[in-house]
Amino acid sequence: MQNVKKLVNQSTVKLPKTQLFIDGKWRAAQSGKTFETNNPATGEMITKIAEAGEADIDLAARAARRAFEGGAWPGTRASERKAYLHKIAELIRTHQEELAQLEMLDAGKPIANTRAIDIPASAGAFDYYAEWADKITGETVPVDPNYFSYTLREPLGVIGAITPWNFPLCMASQKIAPALAMGNTVVLKPAEQTPLTALRLAELIAKAGVPEGVVNVLPGIGECAGAALVRHPEVDGISFTGEYRTGQEIMKNAAATLKRLHFELGGKSPNIIFADADLEAAAEFACDGIFFNQGEVCCSGSRLFVDEKIKKPFTEALLEKAKSWQPGNPANPKTGMGAIVSEDQFKKVMSYIDIGKKEGAKLLLDGRAAAKSKGYFIGPTIFDGVKNNMRLAQEEIFGPVLAQIAFKNFDAVIREANHTFYGLAAAVWTRDVQKAHRAARALKAGVVWVNCYGEFDHAMPFGGYKMSGFGREGGRYAFDFYTQVKSVWMKL
Ligand code: NAI
Ligand code: MG
Repeated sequence: MQNVKKLVNQSTVKLPKTQLFIDGKWRAAQSGKTFETNNPATGEMITKIAEAGEADIDLAARAARRAFEGGAWPGTRASERKAYLHKIAELIRTHQEELAQLEMLDAGKPIANTRAIDIPASAGAFDYYAEWADKITGETVPVDPNYFSYTLREPLGVIGAITPWNFPLCMASQKIAPALAMGNTVVLKPAEQTPLTALRLAELIAKAGVPEGVVNVLPGIGECAGAALVRHPEVDGISFTGEYRTGQEIMKNAAATLKRLHFELGGKSPNIIFADADLEAAAEFACDGIFFNQGEVCCSGSRLFVDEKIKKPFTEALLEKAKSWQPGNPANPKTGMGAIVSEDQFKKVMSYIDIGKKEGAKLLLDGRAAAKSKGYFIGPTIFDGVKNNMRLAQEEIFGPVLAQIAFKNFDAVIREANHTFYGLAAAVWTRDVQKAHRAARALKAGVVWVNCYGEFDHAMPFGGYKMSGFGREGGRYAFDFYTQVKSVWMKL
């Protein structure tokens, strides 16, 4: 355990505006309500944030509608939107250190990660989707010589973006960038645990000169502000990342207006280590796959399937690698693991360690010692002897808790790996090319990593099978959600 007593000094971090960003202006909530956002490393309040209610969401949705229908945004040239998006990316990079500090403070993430991953990836989303702005095209379709038939790719309209707390700025950017590239307008409802970087992003978007009403940012509570956004008749689609139960709620609330939905709902992803794998590398990435970002990752490799033939040496290597993952002060650049985002999430993760023990799994590495300090720290935790039907193996914990399950052969492990209602990600470790390809085909998951874990790029699609969601973010696949297709028939 690193020194967590010398915790993040909040006073050195510049805070953004804490009101609602609606139609290019900063406003208090109409109800006058606020809520607190806390520093997970200390449990202390950072600041109070205006809490959007239904009336504020209504103002924002109508502003986004006006900006859309008035042509302020979809009426610009594609090359102009491209320039705006690159400008936003540039501003994120100019304010990289400040944003990295803010994300670290609000989410409990290690500063090394927010510097190296969160903020660059957010700028990267704007740069990547900027380049698509003038490259999404319709087609001419030669159906009949007496007609000129062609398709148009049009923006969907007003997008409601609802984001989680594990990658706050990344998730906001990953939704706003493709939406804007195609000429949509946006109302963003960031997670109540981590609203700060989204508010700073709103300032930067305004600074980039994006017209009023095109992007609106309204922090608020999911069940109120989030649900109001989902129900709003002026919102055409909801892009949501979060818990599957929330997805079910959103689907119900979206039914009245039959909104288009894009869901990314987490997982219980299998990471499969075959006997012929490079065990050192596999052990290293088994740790990386579950301890990175405190395990608060939708595609974390939380179910570790290990061939029983190599279980002993592999487990030794795994425990050795796990030593380098120790939670500590997120502000220290050497820290690799920060704090769990909130008290609720901390309690949830701790409860699963109890559940695992009650279910009869063997606790090989217990991260609860870290929990005795101030703030919401939990160290790397590894269970062995887990059965795939245990809650420990079936339910998303979203914390640094690994469930190791032994397997006998290829068919059995594929069957078990697929035995989950999730299907976001999977990984296989083997030196046998044929086995790797067979596994990649057989696994029911939106992404399969072979001899690596957690690789990501804006150019590669990402999304779930089964109850991990539908639709893809990344690459041109994102535009299946953010655009609609119109057929035009012209008689010649
Ligand atoms: P959540 O799904 O409740 O929160 C995600 C976003 O949805 C937040 O912005 C929240 O305000 C909003 N929201 C909540 N209820 C809503 C509703 N009825 N209508 C519209 N929007 C709503 O996730 P939560 O409660 O923060 O975390 C609980 C669990 O969810 C975690 O332990 C983890 O297992 C999972 N999770 C998965 C994520 C992923 O990346 N797939 C991200 C965050 C959490
Ligand atoms: Mg917070």
